Amino acid sequence: MTEERLCCSCTGEDIGLKKVKEVIKNHKDIKGCLIPVLHEMQKIYSYLPEEILQIVSEELDIPMSEVYAVATFYTQFNLEPKGEHIIKVCLGTACYVKGAQDILDRLCSVLEVEVGKTTKDGKFTVEAARCLGGCGLAPILMVDDKVYGRLIPDDVIRIIEEYR
Ligand code: FES
Repeated sequence: MTEERLCCSCTGEDIGLKKVKEVIKNHKDIKGCLIPVLHEMQKIYSYLPEEILQIVSEELDIPMSEVYAVATFYTQFNLEPKGEHIIKVCLGTACYVKGAQDILDRLCSVLEVEVGKTTKDGKFTVEAARCLGGCGLAPILMVDDKVYGRLIPDDVIRIIEEYR
């Protein structure tokens, strides 16, 4: 059995069009299906490639402008691929007053990446976060599910090395 595939120009990955169309078909007749469909697409690709937004727009007969507006409005949707590791630096009040901005600035400088972006090698995505629930250890950052606390800016070099 062969699967219908489409080459995604932005990632060079093959895309399982059959699965995409199946998800859309299963949701098509449900009112307000756009958000659930986008969630499903993100589960498949871990982000929302533009080609997929185009297919969703055509198959659901919803203008691309509307699909794009929804995809960009909700923070849980990613329009760019995420890195292998997600680094979240807490900028909540407790962390901020203890120097979290300096931690974030050092991290971005060392990784040569902007907040919200992914390093060129695809290894790390750097995000700023609100309170991550570890105020007693402020300032903190998380790499995936691991918490690092009571940080000073120089600590980010050691932390990054753990994941290289
Ligand atoms: S403010 Fe940073 S963990 Fe709560």
